[in-house]
Amino acid sequence: MHAIGIDIGGTKIAGAVVDEFGTILRSERVPTPAGVAQIEDAVVAMIESLAGDEAVAAVGVAAAGFIDAAQSTVYYAPNIDWRNEPFREKLEARVGKAVVVDNDANAAGWAEFRFGAGRLVSDMVMLTIGTGVGGAVVAGDRLFRGGFGAGAELGHMRVVPEGIACGCGQRGCLEQYGSGRALLRMANEVADAGGVGAALARARAEHGALDGRLVGALMMQQDPGALTALRELGHWLGQAAASLSAVLDPQRFVFGGGVAEAGELLLEPIREAYAEHLPARGYHPEPDFVIAELVNDAGVVGAADLARVWVAEHA
Ligand code: BGC
Ligand code: NA
Ligand code: ZN
Repeated sequence: MHAIGIDIGGTKIAGAVVDEFGTILRSERVPTPAGVAQIEDAVVAMIESLAGDEAVAAVGVAAAGFIDAAQSTVYYAPNIDWRNEPFREKLEARVGKAVVVDNDANAAGWAEFRFGAGRLVSDMVMLTIGTGVGGAVVAGDRLFRGGFGAGAELGHMRVVPEGIACGCGQRGCLEQYGSGRALLRMANEVADAGGVGAALARARAEHGALDGRLVGALMMQQDPGALTALRELGHWLGQAAASLSAVLDPQRFVFGGGVAEAGELLLEPIREAYAEHLPARGYHPEPDFVIAELVNDAGVVGAADLARVWVAEHA
């Protein structure tokens, strides 16, 4: 039976009809509008257009926020204005289908575990590196949700006491040191410092500001300034992964999201910092570090599959 998966990101909303093997049959994408009501309208329009006349089993919606255990309500989102948003109820009333709401990184992690980079392991941790830092934990072949549903918010682990303020209301979260936004901040700092930052400073002067595309292009050209910023980002992520190993002991860490397009350039500093900070280092078996395989499709594929699982369990 086919299911619809919708992935609401900071910049785009992606949607697809997905079969039970994780294959995308049809897909659509639109820019994410500003405002909670406008996002809801865009999601409804996309579900209706994707479903057409087909009887889909369920709709899975992946959202970038803290989700409740009933997979219904977004308690809070650091980078979108959802506050106790009864998203499932609102969407079901409008589309007349079963809707299941899930955390976007959980959906991506589940897709990687079922169909991508996590296929061959029982325990994996995924970090999505985009506007925010998302987390997914698969432990003993099961997606971990926590007691209230909002577990695996790995981007909000504190890595710096009294550090940079975060959208979650706290300070010093990994998200402020390991996200795409953090990478831009670091790239600006490298540009300000001169020296290896010369090409970054030139790009900034020419285009008015640095963005992900400009920094990404310089990284791919092995520009020393862009690589300095990426190394700093990777070091934060690697240290966090070392602490996660102490808690979860995964066989594999998977990195997804836009910044993971840097591939080995990102994994190298992550592995380095991990090895340096791993508790019981030298005696603790080392997991491997890989880039997500489903890249941009992980969210929609995982959301559709989790919705199918939910409907099967509640039938
Ligand atoms: C949110 C998470 C989300 C992540 C990636 C974080 O700021 O708290 O719920 O998974 O961003 O979108
Ligand atoms: Na999560
Ligand atoms: Zn935070």
